[in-house]
Amino acid sequence: MKTIFSGIQPSGALTIGNYLGAITQFVELQNDYHCYFCIVDEHAITVPQDRLKLRENIRSLAAVYLAAGIDPKKSTLFIQSEVSAHAELGWMLQCVAHIGELERMTQFKDKSHGKDGVTAGLLTYPPLMAADILLYGTDVVPVGDDQKQHIELTRDLAQRFNRKYNDIFTIPEHRIPEVGARIMSLQNPTKKMSKSDDNEKASIFLLDEPKKIEKKIKSAVTDSEGTIQYDAENRPGISNLINIYSSFSGKKVDEIVQQYEGKGYGEFKQDLADIVVQALKPIQERYYELIESDTLDEVLDEGQEKAHQQAQKMLRKAKKAMGLGRVR
Ligand code: TYM
Repeated sequence: MKTIFSGIQPSGALTIGNYLGAITQFVELQNDYHCYFCIVDEHAITVPQDRLKLRENIRSLAAVYLAAGIDPKKSTLFIQSEVSAHAELGWMLQCVAHIGELERMTQFKDKSHGKDGVTAGLLTYPPLMAADILLYGTDVVPVGDDQKQHIELTRDLAQRFNRKYNDIFTIPEHRIPEVGARIMSLQNPTKKMSKSDDNEKASIFLLDEPKKIEKKIKSAVTDSEGTIQYDAENRPGISNLINIYSSFSGKKVDEIVQQYEGKGYGEFKQDLADIVVQALKPIQERYYELIESDTLDEVLDEGQEKAHQQAQKMLRKAKKAMGLGRVR
């Protein structure tokens, strides 16, 4: 069986972008792959975090993973900072990565642009991400479109390491969903929907109440054309809503366009709100059961142990290849 690894940062409440771009793929793939899903809290601290809020977000993300359908019998779910091999291999890969290639990462440029006090961790974020992936001999990394560049860098670092030291790392591939790979902001559809958007109306959060979801969809930016047609370039607002509709309903974009021929934004948005609310309802119900239960800690303890055992094997090989420590 091939291996999958993916991670999500506990840097805020999850959006439907995270759900459609990442989690729905995870749930589907866990039947056919050996899966590791991680709460990447060490990545979250590359930008300032409130410590109490971070702890809350970590727990909440674990509950979301399970509520959305990650089955701990099939997948290993764990917290990055609880498996120290990630930070260790992350450091070693920082010594393989070049500053120039890290400075060229779009995410680094976006997050550091015009900011004072940018941390070194924000720059060296991708080698830590590469460590996450490479520790498990990962073949496939399911992610949304925005992470493609980081996976490409992971491949470069793995190949460079294999050439320079020893051929120990599997070269992973990204897997991007056909629909839902890039859900855009509801208020500025040329920008991706993000957990950390300052404008609350820009994102639908997985745990938003039905009324809130409806309100956000109704106030989503469209255009003055008034027809339901897909044209991502010239009509990004309505095209984004069609994408969301398609992802949640499983209907093809063409089918949706045909279904709404001659109809206006009002009817379309109401239907979309109903679809999103219905899709999120069972996840929300399970979430509130889980967040109070001991199950969460049991799953995370077991995940930590399994991930640790597996990660240590690769870490030992990497240390040996680089000549760290003593010959034993
Ligand atoms: P993060 O936490 O920003 O996002 C988690 C996942 O959600 C996807 N995603 C989206 N997909 C579609 N539309 C959107 N608007 C949208 N926003 C986010 C992301 O592509 C991602 O798949 N660097 C990663 C976390 C990470 C990781 C890893 C991922 C750390 N180590 C190892 C894979 C493998 C990140 O910041 O994701």
